[in-house]
Amino acid sequence: MASMLELKKITKRYGAFCANKEISLSIGEGEVYCLLGENGAGKSTLMNVLYGLTRPDDGDILMDGQKVAIRSPKDAIQHGIVMVHQHFMLIPALTVLENIVLATEEHKGVFVEKQQVSARIREISEKYGFRIDPEARVCDLSVGQQQRVEIVKAIYHQCRLLILDEPTAVLTPRETEELYAIIEQFKKEHKSVIFISHKLHEVMHISDRISVLRNGENVATLNKGDTNESELSAYMVGKPVDLAVEKANICPGEVVLKVGSLQVKSKKGNLAVKGLSLSVRSGEIYGIAGVDGNGQSELIQALTGLSRSESGSVQILANDTTNTAPGRVLSLGVSHIPEDRQHMGIAMNQSLMNNLILYDYRNPEYRKGCFLDWGKARRHAQHLVEKYRVKAPSLNQNISYLSGGNQQKAVVARELDKGPKLLLAVYPTRGVDIGAVEFIHKEIVKARDNGCAVLLVSSELDEILVLSDRIGVIYEGTIIGEMNREDATVEKIGMYMAGIADRTPEEKLEA
Ligand SMILES: Nc1ncnc2c1ncn2[C@@H]1O[C@H](COP(=O)(O)OP(=O)(O)OP(=O)(O)O)[C@@H](O)[C@H]1O
Ligand SMILES: [Mg+2]
Repeated sequence: MASMLELKKITKRYGAFCANKEISLSIGEGEVYCLLGENGAGKSTLMNVLYGLTRPDDGDILMDGQKVAIRSPKDAIQHGIVMVHQHFMLIPALTVLENIVLATEEHKGVFVEKQQVSARIREISEKYGFRIDPEARVCDLSVGQQQRVEIVKAIYHQCRLLILDEPTAVLTPRETEELYAIIEQFKKEHKSVIFISHKLHEVMHISDRISVLRNGENVATLNKGDTNESELSAYMVGKPVDLAVEKANICPGEVVLKVGSLQVKSKKGNLAVKGLSLSVRSGEIYGIAGVDGNGQSELIQALTGLSRSESGSVQILANDTTNTAPGRVLSLGVSHIPEDRQHMGIAMNQSLMNNLILYDYRNPEYRKGCFLDWGKARRHAQHLVEKYRVKAPSLNQNISYLSGGNQQKAVVARELDKGPKLLLAVYPTRGVDIGAVEFIHKEIVKARDNGCAVLLVSSELDEILVLSDRIGVIYEGTIIGEMNREDATVEKIGMYMAGIADRTPEEKLEA
């Protein structure tokens, strides 16, 4: 295979910290190349170098054997490289069309060529089966659809190399399958793909070749056929990873969360939660399984007081919290690991330290008179960083410069450390590496063993099955089926997820 792209000894430093150390790799035409590595290993940094978002301190980029200078995404796009970021970079208030054209700053021609551009977007959408309306506003699209906009953008700009940074972290299983199909189509057209993921089964499924980064270095490059999941995780973490979680038998106590016939509207104004009822007891993990977009977000927003419900009731520890303020919910001992860490979980332009000690301001233990005891708060933050292995150059680092997985670990650390009575854990391990998944799972079980009631929302069936004591499947805004963990199977949950409820014996006879 002719190599279309070569990275030669790329080095990138941030102050004294070296994020990429002399990384070399080459990618052939029509090849799917996976980058693996723990949170903070340097994967996104390397891709940012390739896409012209950051300049390397050393090293060369070659395309078709020729050295190229990539100083901006515009340069990259001209060379046929397009990147879909870990945290999407689309502008929510603009339409699909505007976002696609903006990438190359062809503003002037937009209005004249609008018809043409729109027709081309429709043509691409049709060819790849995307169902994307060029006139739709990005803020009205689901994350899966937003990702497809990014991919349409890549195709529109005639890319030869598509970089996907953790593309499936936010996708439903079905959307993931659709993405695989797009990648297969790209391969047929001799286009190349760089794919970053923490999910080893996915890497083994989609890739041709794999490089593992550790602490900024390329520690192994392997053909898929010559390796397996356990070898890959050993390269990544340096030790085998145990994904089974040991759990003591459940001994649930009082009801902590009680939701009765709740109705909540979505941002668009239609009913997203339609008369949903459930209850979670102390010392119990209740897992909500289901395809994304079946009312999970709206349910959690209503429970946390972030949006109003139309009717029905919410009780937390026997307090009526229906349509109450978020501050009151928090004060009842509720922790929330939100689905979107960047918009809801962290204060983006604050230091890691400030993000970790958010709750210390209210805690008398951390007060000196009416001031915060900074020494104590700092020691507390340091403790959290060590315990949760948040990788950052210092506590003063602006949290937005942390790698995606490390931002997530910081949110989880802060929320679990609070010692909550009720934990609302929404995709708690999104984007974290396999070692950290193991750790976070154990901490959630520990909280449950200490009497915390946990409401877990996840689209990963493995995660639901490993953690939950009871499972409810959400479908079109209601819990369509509920079962104890012992009675749950992948098939049974899958049926409910597809909207097929158990039939009564009479119905079965009729069928
Ligand atoms: N602008 C920046 N300033 C300072 N440090 C940075 C900056 N960008 C990245 N880093 C540091 O470089 C390291 C590598 O980060 P990178 O985002 O490449 O990791 P990653 O492998 O993509 O991890 P993840 O799996 O969590 O996304 C991290 O420790 C991060 O804190
Ligand atoms: Mg990253």
